Amino acid sequence: MNKKFKFKKFIYALAPMAGVTDFAFREICADFGADMVVTEMISAKALEYNNARTQKMLKENSRCLKAVQLFGHDPKAVAKVVSSGILDNFDIIDFNCGCPAKKIVGNNDGSAMMRNINNTRKVLESLRNNTNKPISVKFRLGIDNNINYIEFAKMCEDVGVDFLTLHARTREQGYSGEVDKSAYKKLIEAVNTPVIWSGDITNSKDVKYAKEIGCSGVMIGREALGNPEIFAKLKHKKIDCDKKEIVLKHLNNMRSYFGSDDATFSYFKKHLLWYLKNYPNATELKKQVCSLLNLQKMYDFIENNI
Ligand SMILES: Cc1cc2nc3c(=O)[nH]c(=O)nc-3n(C[C@H](O)[C@H](O)[C@H](O)COP(=O)(O)O)c2cc1C
Repeated sequence: MNKKFKFKKFIYALAPMAGVTDFAFREICADFGADMVVTEMISAKALEYNNARTQKMLKENSRCLKAVQLFGHDPKAVAKVVSSGILDNFDIIDFNCGCPAKKIVGNNDGSAMMRNINNTRKVLESLRNNTNKPISVKFRLGIDNNINYIEFAKMCEDVGVDFLTLHARTREQGYSGEVDKSAYKKLIEAVNTPVIWSGDITNSKDVKYAKEIGCSGVMIGREALGNPEIFAKLKHKKIDCDKKEIVLKHLNNMRSYFGSDDATFSYFKKHLLWYLKNYPNATELKKQVCSLLNLQKMYDFIENNI
């Protein structure tokens, strides 16, 4: 087993978000001070079969800690992918045991990994046995309203997982209601493995509480949408550019990632809508974004409205 892993400092991480935390968004969050960025969830099976679109998700050059998140319930697929060298750009391999989506759970992946702990142990063992990189697991309170996160975390610890990220909602809760704040403390008391808090972190007060109870870091998900500078804000760092510069930088990152104006245009639209979320005339502006026809018009819109 590896030497016990420890973060050098309290971590502010960008949470993995499917359809959101692509290369361009990870880059801009790293620019604003994220200490760790995590890819979208990536299917181990798809990587095993060299799926080109999935392999593109592995592009990385952020200067912070870089984590790739895998999912899948087949220990052999995980072993093959991890030992193939294609994850070598990454510092950390994270494993998804929390996705609540029907399609994923129906295939025994994501939060369904909290149902069959014996098989999940095999998957994590195959991860552990095939890499010397730190490995982590991201999970929920439980599934089928069976709250088993402590038992689950102890299994992970036993396998030699280096840190744990808890999103303290059940699969059934999805993203609704509030996280169970008491669960993080209970988890920290139950294991000797570093714990990262994921769920509803929006401001310095939340971070202060997470620090007080002994978390090793926080992950920021939805609050970073249209707001990658949240990392600088939480770390009380000066932001020396305006919103227009941020939006343009993000858009240009995306353009260099996709290399195609059409793909950039269609993928950036949702980000542009998020950037407008706190504008007083957001409803009208969002309507205009939805009727934009091409990337040039998008640049014009940003120039005139952001
Ligand atoms: C659009 C979206 C996509 C997500 N995709 C993933 C994912 O791929 N892997 C994962 O572990 N969690 C995923 N999550 C969950 C987040 O990482 C995070 O745990 C959750 O949103 C709670 O944190 P927040 O309140 O800071 O958003 C996703 C969440 C959202 C909103």
